[in-house]
Order: sequence, then C-alpha cells, then structure tokens
Amino acid sequence: MSQPPVYFDNNATTSLAPEVLEAMLPFLTQKWGNPSSAYRFGHQLIEAIDSARASVAALMNAEPRELIFTSCGTESINTALHSALLSDPQKRHLVTTAVEHSATLKYCQHLAKRGFEITLVPVNSDGGLDLGFLEKSIRSDTALVSVMLANNETGVIFPIAEIATMCRRKGVFFHTDGVQAAGKVKLDVKELGVDFLSLSGHKFHAPKGIGLLYVRRHTRFHPYLVGGGQERGRRGGTENVANIVALGRAAELAAARLPQMETRVQKLRNQLEAEILRMIPGTTRNGPKEPRLPNTSNISFEGVEAEGILMLLDQADICASSGSACTTGSLDPSHVLVAMGCSLERARASVRFSLGIGSTDTEVKYLLERLPSIVERLRSNAPVSAGGAVQEASLSSLSDKPA
Ligand SMILES: Cc1ncc(COP(=O)(O)O)c(C=O)c1O
Repeated sequence: MSQPPVYFDNNATTSLAPEVLEAMLPFLTQKWGNPSSAYRFGHQLIEAIDSARASVAALMNAEPRELIFTSCGTESINTALHSALLSDPQKRHLVTTAVEHSATLKYCQHLAKRGFEITLVPVNSDGGLDLGFLEKSIRSDTALVSVMLANNETGVIFPIAEIATMCRRKGVFFHTDGVQAAGKVKLDVKELGVDFLSLSGHKFHAPKGIGLLYVRRHTRFHPYLVGGGQERGRRGGTENVANIVALGRAAELAAARLPQMETRVQKLRNQLEAEILRMIPGTTRNGPKEPRLPNTSNISFEGVEAEGILMLLDQADICASSGSACTTGSLDPSHVLVAMGCSLERARASVRFSLGIGSTDTEVKYLLERLPSIVERLRSNAPVSAGGAVQEASLSSLSDKPA
C-alpha cells in the first residue's frame, strides 16, 4: 500500500508536508556542506539555520537563542532532565506524572536505578492532575518538575502556566513535554513561564529525526551530547541542516494552520466522537471533553479488544491506534488509562483517533460507515476478555509502546 486512504493516527506521526519537502530538498542535493567549515560552501548554511531558528522561535514566542535543535522529542526530554540534575548535584529528586510519555518515564526509571528519587503525580478519572499532590511533592532536594503539556493518548491539556508559577515560587526547574501540542494549540513560552519545553518535528509535518529543546534565557544548562561546539556549545554533533530547515518551514505552516485546527479539525473530531458515542452502544470517551487537544478522541468499546477493532479497521484501510502495546500476543494496557482508574478490560478496549490538518468530512463518514459493523461483528464473535483489577501506575508497569 502506498498511502493509507484514511489516517486517524496523527498523534503517532504526521505526513511530510509538500512545502516542507520542497524547502529541505536543496539542502540534501546541492547545499550539503558542513556549516562549521570556514569556506562559503559550508559557512553559508548558517544563514538557513538561523532563519529556521527564527521561524520556530516565532511559533512559540521564544527568542531564537533560546532554542536548541536536537534529533527528536525523546532527546529533548532526556536533555532537559539531565541538565536540571547536573545543575545541582545535591538535588536528587524529580517530580513527574503517572501519564507522561515513555520518553520521560523510562528516563526516570533509568535515573531511579542510579539512586535518584522519582515522585509520580497521580491523575483523576478524567485524566486531570492532582495539583495539591504535585505541590506537596516538591521538596528542598527536588531538581525538576516535568509535566506534559498535552497527553498523547487522551489529548488532556494540563495547566502548565499554573504549575510553572508553583515551581518558580519554590525555586525548582520546570520542563514541559510539548510534543503533542505543537501545531494543535497555541504555544507561548512567555505565557507558560516554563524553563524547558520539548518539541518533535514529525508530529507537525516535518520529517522524523528533528526535535527541539527550548531553554529559557539565563537558565543554567548542561549539554547531553558533548562534542563539537555546535548550537553554541549546547548540543554537539554536525547540524542536520535539511531537517532544521524542514522544522523551520513546518513551524511556519503550523502557525498559519492553527486557526484551521481549532475550528475545522476540532469540529470534525467532535462530530466523529459524538457519532460513535451515539451510534455504538457501550462506548465511553476516556478523558474530559475539555480542556483537550482539538484533534484527539479516545473511546472505549465495552466488551471488545481494541486490537480486533484496529485489525479490522486496517483491513478497511483506516489507521488508528490503541494506547496498548501488543507483545507476544498479549496486550499491555495503556499506563495512562490505568492511571485514570480504568479497569484493565476497559483500557484494553480503548481506541485513539487522532485527526490531522488534512482530515476530511468524507474520511470521517467512511469511518462512521464501517465502525459500527466492525464492533458488532467482534461483539458477536469474540468472547469478552477477563477483566482485571485496577493497577497502580508505577514506573515498573511501563511497556515499550510507540507514540
Ligand atoms: C507526548 C510525547 N512525548 C514525547 C514523544 C517522543 O517524541 P519522538 O518520537 O520525537 O522521540 C512522543 C512521541 O510519540 C509523545 O507523544
């Protein structure tokens, strides 16, 4: 198959925008020099990097010098955590949430094995954070608080500005994983008041292999990749000029298309969700209606394994995903849904639909035509899986799932 006809998995990754490809191509074919070289063939590329940096800075109301290009969201997140911990070696405690992406949670797991202490803030049944618990978790030896801006599975948006204020009051660094937010909601680092913010290009129509870390001006910073003096000594490694240019162009497009995301795409998502809940009995939305990313809907289908739904959707050339990882035939339930108090059975029966800027009315209709009969077919055939007890969210219950 060349192109999936109906792609409702934009939180996993997005297509490369033609405008982005056009912008980056010359840097793969003709302008392939090394920006650190003294001669013009290489040196002239600095201009392209600077221009891309200005475009990404504009997307998030940052200053260009506050941005560091990385290879992906995961590298950005690992770097922020690493930097905060090195800033004061006496501080060996981190606070994060039970519903973060594995880029954060697995790194915390790695730190815990090295003697660092990690506190996971729980969420309620709507996916909302217990801010009182968060505030009480911050100690005199806390190096950093890290809370995602929006959850990749449910789309829940967290009160980042409020948490940033709390952290500033307590003199603790604050990082937000903004990977799912770029291109979907307005980003303004000054309003958010964060010290660090991570982004990933492939979530907003740039290629895979480019990410970004915002580091607020005057914030103490310790590089993660040490080598050449690239990125003003803050990230070693020859610049991936083509991908950097691509990120700049993707940021311009994201800014221009944001109103469309907040109106047309959100309306389509609402329509898709309302119709599923209306037409198919035994369906429930996971997470609140608002505040939520405009493109994401996570729905559980009582008595059906998400794996079955996804397989039959795939046969109809529809891409969606579950928060579950399928390993050796058994489904690991989503740690996000489990943290929200969903039973294992409900967590395994949940499907995420994430629309994109290219999603159409016709595609939503196509899904709505097929989904009810898919669920009915599975309900009439499949034995209902055994339910399990609600599991405590913990670092050790994490699976190796993508996105
Ligand atoms: C919320 C969130 N954070 C971090 C990441 C990791 O980003 P990357 O794939 O660029 O490493 C993802 C990717 O799915 C994500 O959804």
